[in-house]
Amino acid sequence: MKILQSTLIIFFIIFMNGVLSSPPDDPVLCSSGNTHCTVTNAYGLFPDRSTCRASQVLFPTTEQELISIVASASKSNTKVKAVTRYSHSVPKFACPGGQDGILISTNNLNRTVKVDVESRRITVESGVVLKDLITEAAKNGLTLPHTPYWWGITVGGLLATGAHGSSLWGKGSAAHEYVVSMRIVTPATAEEGYAKVRSLSESDEELDAVKVSLGVLGVVSQVTLQLEPMFKRAITYVENNDSDLAQELVRFGKDHEFGDIWWFPSQKKALYRVDDRVSIKQSGNGLYDFIPFRPIFTDTLAATRDTEELQEKTRDANGKCVVAKLVTGTLKTAAYGLTNNGSHFTGYPVVGPNNRMQSSGTCLDSLEDGKLICPLDSRLGHRLFHTAFSISLSKVPSFIKDVKKLVELEPQAFCGLELNMGILMRYVKASSAYLGKTDDAVDFYFTYFRIKDEPLSPRLFEDIYEEIEQIGLFKYGGLPHWAKNRNLAFIEAIKKYPNANKFLSVKNKYDPQGIFSSEWTDQVLGLKESVTILKDGCALEGLCICSEDSHCAPSKNYYCRPGKVYKEARVCAFHDNAYTKDEL
Ligand SMILES: Cc1cc2nc3c(=O)[nH]c(=O)nc-3n(C[C@H](O)[C@H](O)[C@H](O)COP(=O)(O)OP(=O)(O)OC[C@H]3O[C@@H](n4cnc5c(N)ncnc54)[C@H](O)[C@@H]3O)c2cc1C
Ligand SMILES: *[C@@H]1O[C@H](CO)[C@@H](O)[C@H](O)[C@H]1NC(C)=O
Ligand SMILES: *[C@@H]1O[C@H](CO)[C@@H](O)[C@H](O)[C@H]1NC(C)=O
Ligand SMILES: *[C@@H]1O[C@H](CO)[C@@H](O)[C@H](O)[C@H]1NC(C)=O
Repeated sequence: MKILQSTLIIFFIIFMNGVLSSPPDDPVLCSSGNTHCTVTNAYGLFPDRSTCRASQVLFPTTEQELISIVASASKSNTKVKAVTRYSHSVPKFACPGGQDGILISTNNLNRTVKVDVESRRITVESGVVLKDLITEAAKNGLTLPHTPYWWGITVGGLLATGAHGSSLWGKGSAAHEYVVSMRIVTPATAEEGYAKVRSLSESDEELDAVKVSLGVLGVVSQVTLQLEPMFKRAITYVENNDSDLAQELVRFGKDHEFGDIWWFPSQKKALYRVDDRVSIKQSGNGLYDFIPFRPIFTDTLAATRDTEELQEKTRDANGKCVVAKLVTGTLKTAAYGLTNNGSHFTGYPVVGPNNRMQSSGTCLDSLEDGKLICPLDSRLGHRLFHTAFSISLSKVPSFIKDVKKLVELEPQAFCGLELNMGILMRYVKASSAYLGKTDDAVDFYFTYFRIKDEPLSPRLFEDIYEEIEQIGLFKYGGLPHWAKNRNLAFIEAIKKYPNANKFLSVKNKYDPQGIFSSEWTDQVLGLKESVTILKDGCALEGLCICSEDSHCAPSKNYYCRPGKVYKEARVCAFHDNAYTKDEL
């Protein structure tokens, strides 16, 4: 019965291609007009489950209006924050400080300012959505070589959080590597009128702060990006066993310009995306419309969710493994959403122009009928934890070996990740951006079940996920993705950036009053006490690393214990019946 249901679910996901759906809600909700607002993220749930408030939201349509908004906030020392159409970052970066700050929406700053075909540059306002950037560039025979895989994000937002695709070649996969100039509106002195535009080009060192700014330096108004002539890519997915993954992972990144790997540890499989640049003359008009980013029926999504909730309640690890195999098997059959001509998959390699292969998100193109939505739509309470960190290439093999030891001990634990496509491994290069990557690295990303309304309820195998998280972040010094993760990932993260002080001095210069800063950004930047929140059950949602049983759920038999492979880790582990501390 369960299996049948899952098959139907997957069937629906795959064959809804091209059907119209309902767009996600705006993350900003106001009770009267544009005042008395709350702001959340695309998931409708911040890591600490708090609700952020703001006194009002403003929608500048020009840089001039943006300047006057920042000026009046700066003059009155009012907190402000740039907010985007969908607010896709998981952590609380969208919140202004305090309870009565002002939200500056970039929704109407969505114009393409200029395309210079000769120098191959595009200038856009910061609220332009990635999809539109890709389309506009393509119309002019140009392309941004590397982008995130999801196009429902804005240029301002994706740069601020260091978002990336996958590559170790050239400048690498982070979109901010392709920035040639930016215009940012910051506070200024009274003589200057309380706000001003700073125009930064490649020769300005401060550009290295502004490219990846976490939104704390001001509001980016315009961005100019270096593009390339349109090229094609050829993609072939190759499945292998994972026995040599520790060695293969680094080699593979060097061999293929756009390669990435999905890892399904319980199935002992690795799925290699062999993805290389080919001549524009090669025939092929392939399309990558990634299946998990397609619209899904509201009812179907609810049913998937119910199945997993039941499996959690009944501790049905095997059930999760059955569904995980179905999901990965079905996606494989459907070529993950690749088609050779936009409608049919006839075989690998799939060759297509970069703009059709690099990014997708058809669930956002929409009709307001409410029946079909994006799989991550907050209205259905689909909750997941998102863990993503990058580990220096030199440490990657050891990390893989440690994870494999955990796989040996608890193979079924990994089915909970494989339900959501396992562990995605992508390549990123060291950056000159102060808050960019410090080394060439592999970014590891996985998502897993989070309970909708019960923060104090433990989850199946959460100790294993917590241990992987702590191995990556602390044993191997991984850098957390700024737009993902739970609070603990940011513990002392800023100390891992040798140029953090340079970033902070630019922040001091641009915004000495800190109107663009919040308690959360101050904590992340090491300017205030810790990012963690110590309270009963805090480790269950990654708000802390447990140091005593009460941080887990002792009444439900989850106790704070050392890791199984990384003994320094502290995780919430399930122990049936009388398990006492003496047994440790
Ligand atoms: C389905 C999905 C897939 C994803 N895929 C990838 C991926 O492939 N690779 C990857 O690296 N990431 C990925 N992400 C993460 C995504 O790139 C980030 O969440 C991104 O930051 C979201 O951009 P946004 O426009 O929603 O910005 P928001 O989350 O709204 O904003 C992020 C921060 O930027 C600030 N900001 C926004 N605009 C401006 C501006 N104009 N001026 C100054 N500050 C500004 C905000 O104040 C906030 O602090 C994915 C996320 C989702 C939901
Ligand atoms: C810009 O946003 C406005 C409203 O938010 C919308 O009507 C318009 O179509 C958008 N323009 C582009 C080029 O996307
Ligand atoms: C894994 O695959 C490699 C070749 O890709 C092969 O040599 C090896 O025997 C396989 N290992 C297992 C355990 O199947
Ligand atoms: C795509 O290819 C299939 C099979 O080769 C063909 O039936 C279909 O008409 C093609 N569609 C387009 C849009 O070219």
